[in-house]
Amino acid sequence: MGAVDVLILAAGEGTRMKSGTSKVMHCLCGRSMLGWAMEAARGVSEEKPIVVVGANRDAVQQAFGDAARYALQAERLGTGHAVMMAKELLQDEAELVVILAGDMPLLRAETLQQLCDMVRSQHLSAALLSAVLDDPTGYGRVLRNADGSVQGIVEHKDASQAQRAVREINASVYCFRKDALLASLSRLTNDNVQREYYLTDCIGHLAADGQRVGALVAEDARECMGVNNRAQLAEAGAVLRGRINRLHMLSGVTLIDPQNTYIDAQVRIGRDTVIYPGNVLEGACVIGTDCVLYPGSRMVDSTLGNGVTVQNSVLLGARVGANSTVGPYAYLRPGTDVGRHVRIGDFVEVKNSRIDDGTKVSHLTYIGDGHLGRDCNVGCGTVFVNYNGEAKYHTEVGDNVFIGCNSNLIAPVKVGDGAYIAAGSTITDEVPQDALAIARSRQTNKDGWSAKRRAARKKEK
Ligand code: UD1
Ligand code: CA
Repeated sequence: MGAVDVLILAAGEGTRMKSGTSKVMHCLCGRSMLGWAMEAARGVSEEKPIVVVGANRDAVQQAFGDAARYALQAERLGTGHAVMMAKELLQDEAELVVILAGDMPLLRAETLQQLCDMVRSQHLSAALLSAVLDDPTGYGRVLRNADGSVQGIVEHKDASQAQRAVREINASVYCFRKDALLASLSRLTNDNVQREYYLTDCIGHLAADGQRVGALVAEDARECMGVNNRAQLAEAGAVLRGRINRLHMLSGVTLIDPQNTYIDAQVRIGRDTVIYPGNVLEGACVIGTDCVLYPGSRMVDSTLGNGVTVQNSVLLGARVGANSTVGPYAYLRPGTDVGRHVRIGDFVEVKNSRIDDGTKVSHLTYIGDGHLGRDCNVGCGTVFVNYNGEAKYHTEVGDNVFIGCNSNLIAPVKVGDGAYIAAGSTITDEVPQDALAIARSRQTNKDGWSAKRRAARKKEK
């Protein structure tokens, strides 16, 4: 089989998004619309897709780098013109050219594959994807001959009353034999209501020449949905979310309420993990097996080992080892690396720190730029004082250390293995192994002081 080149049309401005961001760079389930198109393209071709860009060129190239080839359409003269701008990039060995629009995030690779199979097995010059809609307003209509073969496409604005009654629409997804595409492109004119070079006219030219053109009617018309505004973005996002969640459920993940569980496309989740509503898993999260995600957490690019429990917490670029518990209300920031059987309790913030196996940090604590050894106990209200207003410093705590409540460790500082820090201490100097550090002023009691004061007050009145 010959090679397939994929062309993604993405030069449109997308003015109806009312956005400073290019339409195709808007995201659904953690992936831009163009990213979804690239993903579908990967399913039918090993070649890098060709993306036709316009004013959005820099943003698109920055996002996709050398994962794509780019063609610039400086002036927006229609879909046919967009393809003309890319034809130099088509490879000599390409047999088929698949063309799709960059704003159809629900289109699946399987459907593109079916389109290619149709062209090959039926020896067609081209095939297009169509859908039958209750309300076809605005779309190009697929015109068929009496024998059902495709005759051409007429744009809504150019269509007669009778043509507008046709409910089969052109989805703007095609598979052409490359030679047929190039020959028909050279014949395009802009002799129409919009003064544009219509790619759709290529289909008409081929059919008029007696070449065979097919149409694949999408089983699920939603796949052909184009996103033009934010309402459609949300609608398409919900469909993608449903697909993602269903795949996780079918591979052994329990979602208590899939309608209220937000899992990005890239996230991986192990079997027998249970996810309660209101969890948002973004980016490249990897969740182990047998985890329980109680309600209300947001995790970005974070990794959980097996058997981890998280509740009402925020994890950003954090790693948590097997059988540890996090939350409620913990904040694990980038560079957090938590071992196994660790307990991170309520209102604990960790940043750029390693916490070894078996250590407990149960409440109201800040661990920043530090290392805590194994089996330590960190008392309530401990602060790693890592910042002096100018620079950040490291705190090093050994294994089996007990840090009493309300202690401050002023970095840079070291606490040796097995040491004990008395509650309320402010530690500024190294604590040797197995030592007790008490760093607070000694208590003095003044006998009878309070009673005398009360008596004095009474006299005044
Ligand atoms: C197009 C089809 C129409 C189909 C509809 C489906 C044509 C002439 N019409 O119409 O039959 O029913 O899609 O949604 O093709 N683009 C460029 N450069 C351009 C013009 C468009 O890159 O000069 C890109 C857009 O960014 C978009 C895609 O091509 O991704 C489709 O363009 P759009 O203007 O939305 O075409 P429609 O008028 O919707
Ligand atoms: Ca469109």
